[in-house]
Amino acid sequence: VLTLAAAAIGGYLLGSVPFGLVLTRAAGLGDIRSIGSGNIGATNVLRTGHKGLALATLLLDGGKGAIAVGLAALLTGADDLAMLTAGFAAVLGHNYPVWLGFKGGKGVATTFGTLAAACWPVGVACGLTWLAVAALARISSAAALAALALSPVYAWLFSGPAAALMAFGLAVMGFHRHQANIARLLKGEEPRIGAGRRKKG
Ligand code: G3P
Repeated sequence: VLTLAAAAIGGYLLGSVPFGLVLTRAAGLGDIRSIGSGNIGATNVLRTGHKGLALATLLLDGGKGAIAVGLAALLTGADDLAMLTAGFAAVLGHNYPVWLGFKGGKGVATTFGTLAAACWPVGVACGLTWLAVAALARISSAAALAALALSPVYAWLFSGPAAALMAFGLAVMGFHRHQANIARLLKGEEPRIGAGRRKKG
């Protein structure tokens, strides 16, 4: 129980570091939450026009999920439940960070980092799905939702029921965080990648 509590707290704290916010602030771009969708993720950082910062946000947000799972694996001798707890907690930390009044991001990069660390082919399959849909539709949220929806299938195929359950839980949380995006997608109002700024939502 103590191990799981440590995995949960450690994962949450790692996940709660809002890299998009920290990096854009450090670059003197103001508060990312008042730009574009208001989200703290890489997609919204890209709307500032700074591709390098967006890439760094993507890698760091993904990396913190991977590190949470990796650390849990290292410290517990790859205990499945500890890894699952740490990964889930990292995404919770990103989406609901205590530092930002529990108003965080949508957890896409962190989810994929978490899944990749738990089972790398799942991460690769999710990444490829994201890229394929992004290339076709040029909409980041649509690509994320497609990859999230398929992630339990990939996890089942490449790993097993435990990973599939984790991916399913993360996908449910991800869809929940994309409600405003889904509404815009249905209305055909979701902006395309590279379309610049838009109203907060
Ligand atoms: O990763 C978040 C992405 O799916 C949507 O971001 O800023 O367009 O709401 P955004």
